[in-house]
Formats: sequence, C-alpha cells, structure tokens
Amino acid sequence: MNAIDIINKTKRSQTLSYEEISWLVRSYTSGLIPDYQMSAWLMAVCLNGLTEEETLALTYAMRDSGDTIRLNIPMTVDKHSTGGVGDKTSMIIGPAAAACGVNVAKMSGRGLGHTGGTIDKLESIPGFRTDLSLKEFEAVVKETGFSVVAQSEELCPADKKMYSLRSASGTVESIPLICASIMSKKLAVEADCLLLDVKYGTGAFMKERSEAEKLARLMEKIGKAAGKKCKADVTDMNVPLGRNVGNALEVAEALEVLRGNDRGQLYNVCMDLTADMLELAGKGTHEECRAMAEEAISSGRALEVFRRTIELQGGDPRVCDDSSLLPQARCSYIIRASYDIEVTYMNCEEIGMVSLLLGAGRLTRDDNIDMSAGLVMHCTIGDKLTAGDPIMTLYSSICSDFSEAALRALNALGRRRTDRMISGDR
Ligand code: URA
Repeated sequence: MNAIDIINKTKRSQTLSYEEISWLVRSYTSGLIPDYQMSAWLMAVCLNGLTEEETLALTYAMRDSGDTIRLNIPMTVDKHSTGGVGDKTSMIIGPAAAACGVNVAKMSGRGLGHTGGTIDKLESIPGFRTDLSLKEFEAVVKETGFSVVAQSEELCPADKKMYSLRSASGTVESIPLICASIMSKKLAVEADCLLLDVKYGTGAFMKERSEAEKLARLMEKIGKAAGKKCKADVTDMNVPLGRNVGNALEVAEALEVLRGNDRGQLYNVCMDLTADMLELAGKGTHEECRAMAEEAISSGRALEVFRRTIELQGGDPRVCDDSSLLPQARCSYIIRASYDIEVTYMNCEEIGMVSLLLGAGRLTRDDNIDMSAGLVMHCTIGDKLTAGDPIMTLYSSICSDFSEAALRALNALGRRRTDRMISGDR
C-alpha cells in the first residue's frame, strides 16, 4: 500500500477498504507518512466525504492507535461537544454532574479551527496539567468524580496528530472527520453513557441543522454499536455561548456560573446538558435531574469539585475564589456603537476568528497561545444600543494595534441603524 494510491482513491470518490484505512492511520501515527500527504487525504475527505463503513473504519483505526482504557470506577458518563464559539460548558457540566454522583472521565482536544478547546482553556489555569498518566487520571476521577486529559502518545495518538493538522490545514468541516475524531476519543476511554452536543449555526462546523442531525445520528449509531448508552442533542450555535471568548476569559466565565453568580443563557444550557447526562445515567426524569444539577450549583458543591480537580491536576485552586489569578491581558480595546443600532445577526465564526487572531488560538500547528487573549461580547442578537454603548471588548497581550481585529469584529455583526431615517448601516 502507499499513500498516493489512497489519496487518489478518495479524490476520485472510490471506497477505501478497512485495511487501507487502518494502514493509513497506523503509518501516519508512526511517522511513515508525512504531514503533507495526510493533509492531502484529509482535504479529499472534506471535499468528497467517506461512506459510513469507511467512517467506522477510521474511528476504530484512530481508537486503536493507542490504548483503550476502562477505568475501575462505577457509572462513568462522558460528554463531548462538536465545537463552537465560547463553548465552555465542559468546565461547568463536568463538576456539576460529578457533584450529583456520576463520574466524568473526559478526553478533550485543543482549539480547532475558529473554535477553542477545553484543554487549552483548562491550561490557562496556572499550573493545570492535562498530560496525566492513566494512573493519575483514574486517581483524580476516583477522588473528585471529574477529570480531563488530552490525547497523548498512549491515548488516541492518531487524533492528537490529525487534530492539530486539520486545524492548521482548513480540513475541520467534515462529518466523517469530526465523527471519527470525537468517537475515537470516546471509545478509547470507555464510559457507560455518552452525551454528544452537536452544534449547528454560524459558529459551528455544521452551518445547517440538517447537517448537524446527520452527524448526530452517525455518532449515535457508532456509540450504540460499541454498546454505549448514547444520546446526541442538536443545539444552536448562532451566537457565542455566554459572553466571553478566549481561554482564561472562558474559565473566568465558567467560574462565575459555578459560583452561582450567572443564571443566564450559559447557565441554562449547562443545566439542561447536565440533566441529560444524569438522565442517561438513570438518575431520574429530566426535570428531577435538572433540579439536582441546579442544587449542585446553588449549594456550591459543583465549585468544590472543580476546586479539588484543579488542585489534583497541579493547578492553582485559588482561581475558584479569585479570577484575577488567571492570565490577564496587557492591552484591551472597547468597540463602541457610533450611533443607535439594533443587532440583527452575528457571524459567530468570524467572532471566533477575531479571538484567534488576537492570540487565543493557533494559525499554524506550532503557534503559542496567548492565554489572556479573546473578547467579551456586550450585546446579543435583538439588543438595541445607543451611540457610545460598548459592543465588544477585545483583549490581547501580544497585539496592541486592535484596528484590524476591531474592524473584523464589527463586520461580524449585522446592525440596523435606529437613530435616523437611514436603514441598515452595514
Ligand atoms: N471535537 C473533536 O474532538 N474533534 C472534532 O473534529 C471536532 C470537535
């Protein structure tokens, strides 16, 4: 077998055999196939897709690139999002579910394309380690009920390599690639139940709801074939989740929810997802589970789970009381309304790209991240602002000239001028 024949087959929409896909993944993981050939194949998949059988073969090959572990812990429930802008739900849902008596042992990824990743976000907490050994991972889950680790040389090494390659080669938006990336991780760390949060909209990889539904059904099918209780929710990503976008900024916002100080859109989405996880684990009806999740927040027990997990994973637990201990940006810039406007639309992917350009994400695989960078939204769709009101605040420690980012951020918003007879100021 050789990579050129395999690239050509996918380029011509010819079906690959199980053996060819396994060989490709194995050879890429071991370094036999270079990045440029894998990128070419990934692009061919983005353009032509894979059959369901090929997607299953890719999922298994990626899972089998490393170890498969079943933690010696009862009732493990996992959750994974397909990625969105400002999606910091795992840092809230994980501790909340753990506080309600289930175990959440999670393997997550870094930033991908215009979206952030849970691993980068958690690593913005000073000292926080996501490269735990399997023994350490199990010990944290046993003690707190919640732990997150990254892909590694032992766990899903194929996804570790392909994930960062996809992010830097414009090959993220593909149902089979997203499905195999997520499900290989979810099958490598075996959980009893699995909740998938499949996003659609301007900030998601799937722009159309119908595409997200297709991805959801495919992942459910693979999960069930692997013997898991598996549910996929399809949720809206046409506005950022919460207000903050960027690593440390998102941790700070998640902490506000865990402290019980934020009962808005983010809190509600997280309480529903936590209820879904608990319901899957057989803890009660959706309403009963939602009440349990809310109590985990209001009692402070979810925050205590997060505090102890941070401590056990080497991070500074004092951030739970004082978010100013998280990385703080050296420069900021407030974008204000020049006249009275109504916000009519958001291009959420562009908002994610602005955050990435400010330093919160990677343009190439080896870029360093500015953990303090990102943005805070001061408005959402339907809001009416008067001249001078803040629209967004941009943060960065590596970029002090905000002119390009500010223009791009402003152009990501649909605005209708409301102070005069002029309609539509775009
Ligand atoms: N999350 C993942 O882990 N992989 C993807 O491809 C997209 C979201």
